[in-house]
Amino acid sequence: MSLWDDIDKTLIPEDELQQRIAQIGQEINETYTDEDCPLLVCVLKGAFVFLADLTRHLTIRHEVDFMETSSYASRTVSSGVVRILLDLERNIQGRHVLIVEDIVDSGRTLDYVTRNLKTREPASLRVCTLLDKPSRRVIEVPLDFIGFEVPDEFVVGYGLDFAEVYRNLPFIGVLREEIYAEPRRG
Ligand code: IMP
Ligand code: MG
Repeated sequence: MSLWDDIDKTLIPEDELQQRIAQIGQEINETYTDEDCPLLVCVLKGAFVFLADLTRHLTIRHEVDFMETSSYASRTVSSGVVRILLDLERNIQGRHVLIVEDIVDSGRTLDYVTRNLKTREPASLRVCTLLDKPSRRVIEVPLDFIGFEVPDEFVVGYGLDFAEVYRNLPFIGVLREEIYAEPRRG
């Protein structure tokens, strides 16, 4: 049994991901100038694969930094509690900041992160997310760059995990239900 056997279906194949990421890179190149030198804030851990591919499509001068927030434990529903586990190295006051996220689900994580970063007085604050699951939104959060809209299904791969596994898959897939189903009690 390999990791691949746990996948029910492929939602976004590797070539579609890569094509869209190249387009988003162009949109970002057209949004900022070299003088802006935006700071890309990668929200760990899920966005690390996306950031790595996205940054190589950027031709404008930019920097990267990392932030880690608390995420789901081994379940597939959000607790609603967001904590900063790792904060930025950089001072962002007066900087153009672009948050890079893997997926916006309830919107709670992004809402917390944007409110937190705004208090540090960046020159501008935009959001780029690879995936958007709008049907699950609890808090409205403005998104500037969106890769793909996904249906209300738990997806893994390309940085997204279930219980910390499957991040290495080069595509976005849906897990077989029995992998994440809660064990029935009694
Ligand atoms: P939110 O705070 O509910 O918007 O969720 C944001 C975080 O939850 C994302 O950055 C992911 O880490 C995680 N997440 C939400 N939906 C999924 C999913 O379908 N697969 C894997 N992780 C998810
Ligand atoms: Mg995440």
